[in-house]
Amino acid sequence: MKTKIPTGCACIDTALEGGLSSGSVNLIYGEPETGKSTLALQCAFRCSLQGLKTLFVDCDNTFSTERLFHLAAENFDSVSEMILLMKPVDFNEQTFVVDHLEDYITKNFGLVVIDTFNSLYRAKVAEASSKTAAFTLNRELNRQMAVIAQTAKMLDVPFVVTSQVKSVFSDISPLVVPVAQRILKFWADTVISLKPTDTPSVVQAVLEKNRNTQEVSCYLRIAETGIYEYELPY
Ligand SMILES: Nc1ncnc2c1ncn2[C@@H]1O[C@H](COP(=O)(O)OP(=O)(O)OP(=O)(O)O)[C@@H](O)[C@H]1O
Ligand SMILES: [Mg+2]
Repeated sequence: MKTKIPTGCACIDTALEGGLSSGSVNLIYGEPETGKSTLALQCAFRCSLQGLKTLFVDCDNTFSTERLFHLAAENFDSVSEMILLMKPVDFNEQTFVVDHLEDYITKNFGLVVIDTFNSLYRAKVAEASSKTAAFTLNRELNRQMAVIAQTAKMLDVPFVVTSQVKSVFSDISPLVVPVAQRILKFWADTVISLKPTDTPSVVQAVLEKNRNTQEVSCYLRIAETGIYEYELPY
């Protein structure tokens, strides 16, 4: 059994028996600014502490060197060398990256992050001229997730895939509907949702129940130095 990659959030790592498993697809979804990128970056940082590289696919162009500096502190130089950054600028480029993952991931890689997996897809869907065009994009998103799941298993590395969801207000209560949620969840081995709370910088993390794990819920605080388990004072 290969080493697991800790997320750095104690409650999640305990539930995952040490962290992200090799060969697994780990979906982190939530509304904007709920800490998805911070958590993904923290996984990359923890991966580098184990002497393993991360392929970080930054689809939003939001990768923050400053954020990494705060996470890594005195290890910043060595940690940055362990992160290979790719920045697809549109959904076609994302397709290319996903189809060539094997070319980038050599044996010293311990993690792949795709952040945010559905943002370029959403931009393209917004431009789609017909339902048929949108359906074709949907199928492509599904195909990419299949490739990711297959690559994760074949190369025996964990993947973190982040997904942004919007708030949809129903008559009764706000419901959060992930875009293409069904597709992403279908392919994910682990699903973590991050939800805003009334306390600033604190989010609720729910590790959703699946065939291997029970549902676990805890709170996380987003600080300058990372995202950590947090005990609510009430
Ligand atoms: N260097 C930093 N120091 C402190 N807080 C930061 C830093 N960078 C980001 N934040 C804050 O952390 C919170 C979470 O940001 P993050 O980018 O991780 O969210 P996200 O879920 O990825 O958002 P999005 O959906 O927009 O991609 C935000 O409120 C942001 O302002
Ligand atoms: Mg983000």
